[in-house]
Amino acid sequence: MEEKTTTIDPNTISTVELQQLLLTAVAPRPIALASTVDKNGNVNLSPFSFFNVFSANPPILIFSPARRIKDSTTKHTYENVKEVNEVVINIVNFPMVEQMSLSSTEYKKGINEFTKSGFTPVASDKVKPPRVAEAPISFECIVENVIELGAEGGAGNLIISRVVNIHIRNEYKGNDGNLATEKLDLVARMGGNWYCRAGKDSLFEIPKPIYSKGIGVDALPIHAINSKVLTGNDLGRLGNMAEKPSLESIAKCKKIPEVIAALQTPDSEEKYKKLHSIVKNQLDNTNVEQALSILFCI
Ligand SMILES: Cc1cc2nc3c(=O)[nH]c(=O)nc-3n(C[C@H](O)[C@H](O)[C@H](O)COP(=O)(O)O)c2cc1C
Repeated sequence: MEEKTTTIDPNTISTVELQQLLLTAVAPRPIALASTVDKNGNVNLSPFSFFNVFSANPPILIFSPARRIKDSTTKHTYENVKEVNEVVINIVNFPMVEQMSLSSTEYKKGINEFTKSGFTPVASDKVKPPRVAEAPISFECIVENVIELGAEGGAGNLIISRVVNIHIRNEYKGNDGNLATEKLDLVARMGGNWYCRAGKDSLFEIPKPIYSKGIGVDALPIHAINSKVLTGNDLGRLGNMAEKPSLESIAKCKKIPEVIAALQTPDSEEKYKKLHSIVKNQLDNTNVEQALSILFCI
């Protein structure tokens, strides 16, 4: 079947349409709840999902208050960091998501969104803007550089922020004393009004031992790569194994009654279907080594 794709030259659609497309596609995005002050000490608090970590040494976070599409004007957060090169980036989790949303309201300059959104300000140790007491983690930062990407509506302004102090609420630590992903309940921004919640039920792990290299999907038998049963995720897990199965392990699998039955199937398409179903079943039971050996039985 022919694959159907829509191809778009970004120059042929409006900035509003382009922004909508980009924000729907590049998601979920973490949210920086940024606290800043102007030169007179007026506090501002606003969320930004053009945000991520880019370096651990030095520790660098970057977020982007963009120019408004409707009139190209800049946001208070951008103006503040140009006046006072400091910011506290507070991480947002589910218990604070509604108040965070409220803090995105475009209040007049000088209005303190801590007060409007009901968040509790706590004085920082090393920078002037206060942090949000409710946030699971807060990063006190020095703004090292601001990179303006344009002067038109929608142009981003990269606020390159170096972390100088970190606050972690102890309730989000695990028994080992480290931050615990399953306790954090972080939220992220999707396109439109959508958010997503990285609660316990939506988390999963992919074991990837960094000391060994996977054999790669290209090292799997061609019938597996062309399989109608095995998915891309299945192939990825099999290709992540460090070694091809040993002859001994393949010989062992050839004695499994289910495998014998599959191998004896006269119709070749049906044979692969049956074998791949056994492989899939093993993968679902996290028996990846056995699954790989069964795959090499033919
Ligand atoms: C979850 C969320 C994420 C947002 N991300 C951004 C962003 O990355 N860049 C941006 O310019 N505006 C973003 N906004 C909108 C700003 O928060 C909003 O324009 C705010 O009023 C700016 O405040 P300020 O002028 O006080 O800095 C976001 C809003 C929400 C609710």
